[in-house]
Amino acid sequence: MADMLEQSLARLGTDYIDLYWIHNPADVARWTPHLIPLLKSGKVRHVGVSNHRLSEIELANRILGEAGFRVEAVQNHYSLLYRSSEDAGILDYCRDHGIPFFAYMVLEQGALSGKYSPKNPLPEGSNRAQTYNGMLPQLKALTDKLASIGQRQGAAAADVAIAWAIAKGTTPIIGVTRPDYIDGLVRGCYEHGASRRRHCAAGSSRRHRQREHPRLVGKRDGV
Ligand SMILES: NC(=O)c1ccc[n+]([C@@H]2O[C@H](COP(=O)([O-])OP(=O)(O)OC[C@H]3O[C@@H](n4cnc5c(N)ncnc54)[C@H](OP(=O)(O)O)[C@@H]3O)[C@@H](O)[C@H]2O)c1
Repeated sequence: MADMLEQSLARLGTDYIDLYWIHNPADVARWTPHLIPLLKSGKVRHVGVSNHRLSEIELANRILGEAGFRVEAVQNHYSLLYRSSEDAGILDYCRDHGIPFFAYMVLEQGALSGKYSPKNPLPEGSNRAQTYNGMLPQLKALTDKLASIGQRQGAAAADVAIAWAIAKGTTPIIGVTRPDYIDGLVRGCYEHGASRRRHCAAGSSRRHRQREHPRLVGKRDGV
């Protein structure tokens, strides 16, 4: 793990990493202790875990806690369609422990944006078309409802889906592929109220990052 961190630091051209994400929960008991020297060295300032179950987050927190550190962020798939983190009590755990919860795929890769429908499906041949095109007829009632809620506020369906995730206490990471989507992101934050404006994060979509920053999407990077 120390070697992987050194490689990431070299690729990123930095001496330390603010938030080091553990992308997947591969044997939490075995690997989490290896983070402690990295935290002690200051090369990793904070640790976040992604795609972890509640028991895995608790275990990671316990192991880090014994050395005076803690899990400081959680990042899981969370959207109007996919609420396992809510059902499993992860949102409650994060709230009770003051851990920011970063929600990814809030727009289900565009399927909840209101842009796609049975008449205008996701681009054929893409992975997302394979995942979502078959369910677009069932999603139509939801995306229509998001659009009609948005209409009252001068907002788009995507903005409402983002505002919903913020209202649930999460920080959405949105895959932004066009500059005007940033405006939507800002609207989504404003819709939820000025006091929570900070709860917005723009990610770039994996496809965009692959095009623009191919080295940042390596599977083995814990960053
Ligand atoms: N930790 C993990 O395992 C994990 C896994 C997946 C993703 N992520 C993170 O989550 C981020 C987001 O994931 P994602 O990009 O796959 O899914 P997403 O945010 O649910 O969807 C992104 C897609 O939604 C559309 N979109 C974005 N903003 C919009 C707006 N304002 N109005 C209308 N459409 C909009 C775009 O589609 P069009 O380009 O077709 O318009 C874009 O490609 C990633 O960048 C990554 O950082 C993490």
